[in-house]
Amino acid sequence: MAYETILCEKDGAIATVTINRPKVLNALNPQVIAELGQVFAELKQDGEVKVVILTGAGDKAFVAGADISAMRDMNPVQARNFSRSLQEVTCLMEDLGKPIIASVNGFALGGGTEMALACDFIYASETAKFGQPEINLGVVPGAGGTQRLSRLVGKNWAKELCYTGDIIDVQLAKEIGLVNRVFPVDDLKDAVLKTAKKIASKGRVSMRACKELIHFGFDLPLDHALRLEAEAFGTCFASPDQKEGMSAFLEKRKADFKGEA
Ligand code: CAA
Repeated sequence: MAYETILCEKDGAIATVTINRPKVLNALNPQVIAELGQVFAELKQDGEVKVVILTGAGDKAFVAGADISAMRDMNPVQARNFSRSLQEVTCLMEDLGKPIIASVNGFALGGGTEMALACDFIYASETAKFGQPEINLGVVPGAGGTQRLSRLVGKNWAKELCYTGDIIDVQLAKEIGLVNRVFPVDDLKDAVLKTAKKIASKGRVSMRACKELIHFGFDLPLDHALRLEAEAFGTCFASPDQKEGMSAFLEKRKADFKGEA
């Protein structure tokens, strides 16, 4: 499928989705959001792809937020629907059944931080900056920021960021647990690829189960979530990957996972 505002490049089991509006720092307008929805729906069904990388074009921004020129004249219903369309994409990302790594190479503000939060984890360059500056525009975050940010970094940091609209540097973002790892600008791409390849070498069945257990189990009561984990553990034994993984260990060789999920 041809896209105008994003790029999707596949290299074997790894797909890289690049938001491609560098002149406006990859701001998310309705077309970007629709195309992201389409590409994630396609990648979800793609039997070849095992890991997705999400990044922004250019060296200045991952995504500088939702497109302010597209939003300024919206009425309340349009704005609500715009917010829902962004949220639907983020939910699709969480329900992808395969990991998404955010590769943050500059500003990730508003909807940019929110898109990164919907990924499985964030790798960032030393120049990356994060924030929820919506308060400065007279609105609230609308792509899940009040919810996913507080769940990840805790309510107090989420409140400070959403109340002040401050843009924070990557060191603080790492300190509060928003970012997993930080790399020199020139090393980010290779570092993300290295982790993506490592993840792609694992089995699809157990990878999907891990993502779903951690994501969907997180907000459940512990005893309920633990039962889901035990069910998933059992289900893994229905996959050829379990026999392969355990046999490979015992035979002192590298596992070759072929199970489909
Ligand atoms: N929407 C539309 N255009 C944007 C944009 C955005 N979110 N962010 C940047 N741009 C545009 C600028 O208007 C500018 O365009 P022109 O060259 O045509 O003037 C271009 O991108 C380059 O930006 P700047 O000249 O502003 O670059 P800078 O280096 O001086 O500043 C910045 C960079 C600090 C990121 C600044 O652009 C900025 O503050 N952007 C807005 C950030 C923001 O408020 N994001 C939240 C949006 S609301 C949201 O996301 C809601 C939601 O949750 C759904």
